[in-house]
Amino acid sequence: MTEPACTVLLTGASGVVGQAVLREAPGRPVRIVSMARPGGTALPPGHDEVLGADLTRPRFGLDEDSYAALARDVDTVIHSAGLTEWGLPYERYKPANVDGTRRVIEFAEHACATVHFMSTAFVAALFTDAPHQLSDTNVTMNYVRSKLRSEQMLRDSGVRYTVFRPTNLIGDSATGWTSRGQIVQLMSDWICRGRAPFIPVHQGNRIDIVPQDLLAKAVLRAVELGDDGGSFWVTYGDEAMDMERAVEMCVKHASALGRTLGPIPVTDPDALDPEALLRLPPLARSYLSVLRDVSEVTRCSGGVLPTSMPELRARYDVPHIQDTDAYLRTLEYASAHLS
Ligand SMILES: NC(=O)c1ccc[n+]([C@@H]2O[C@H](COP(=O)([O-])OP(=O)(O)OC[C@H]3O[C@@H](n4cnc5c(N)ncnc54)[C@H](OP(=O)(O)O)[C@@H]3O)[C@@H](O)[C@H]2O)c1
Repeated sequence: MTEPACTVLLTGASGVVGQAVLREAPGRPVRIVSMARPGGTALPPGHDEVLGADLTRPRFGLDEDSYAALARDVDTVIHSAGLTEWGLPYERYKPANVDGTRRVIEFAEHACATVHFMSTAFVAALFTDAPHQLSDTNVTMNYVRSKLRSEQMLRDSGVRYTVFRPTNLIGDSATGWTSRGQIVQLMSDWICRGRAPFIPVHQGNRIDIVPQDLLAKAVLRAVELGDDGGSFWVTYGDEAMDMERAVEMCVKHASALGRTLGPIPVTDPDALDPEALLRLPPLARSYLSVLRDVSEVTRCSGGVLPTSMPELRARYDVPHIQDTDAYLRTLEYASAHLS
């Protein structure tokens, strides 16, 4: 058993990323205190150190003594909690994502702790030098604004921190496992059932999805190394598959299940007729509009998301995993467990 070298407060422990971090942690020299919201998603059994706390409340809702004791104990915060659903007004994101990060910063100041913040690769779409401007109506807009605001607050604070900017995550690279089905898994499963009449993706866009264990490994290694600076795009960048390859993976997976997928046209999202969308069944309408908006986010980065993958491999031992192989594992897992 490796002696813990540091104590980590993990916010958002019940979330997809939090669960992936907890799966990767055993055997590493870290002790993890998992923050879970009272009344929120229960953590699976096996986590002894669970702290009931809420980011939207002063001192995380803890009494003064418990907060001070926590600050004495903790050296590092992995800040993964937040409201991640898309399509909500900015005011809905502010309490958990913006004010919550402010409280994490206050706590880090108190504890002299380093913060590793889980942002999103989508912030690139809001950079002033982005090749295209993201439309105000994009479903991810307010969520991304709240993440960018958090990054700014960290930058302006005096605390030591790193920022990890993952693209959309998929299941574990070896097994496809995820604690909860997310948009990529659910939508891909829908496509593999032959339900998508077309796929709205801008020409030339890469389909950049990353297995969740790669992010978890990178963050934990950053903690072990005591890193306290840098921002990392957890993306494949120009190694990411194109749309044709993604569709090929879906066809291959469907065929392994004995299904024959007809050709799926890839269409220009900007030419999408809103009236035609309205005539589709609600699930198709919702998935296709999300696909259109996610495609717009990638297009804002010129079709290829920025990446730090070479650096993550070199410094944080992130394994070389082909995204198409990981995507197939995710499709298999989604068909077996999330359908
Ligand atoms: N998953 C991805 O594809 C992806 C991609 C890019 C960036 N990210 C970023 O990575 C982080 C983690 O994402 P995720 O997929 O793990 O999200 P998630 O599955 O939605 O989990 C969010 C976590 O935050 C917790 N939380 C929400 N409000 C809270 C509050 N007021 N106080 C304390 N905890 C609160 C949730 O608790 P309950 O379960 O009790 O609600 C849950 O544990 C997020 O910041 C997200 O922006 C994720």
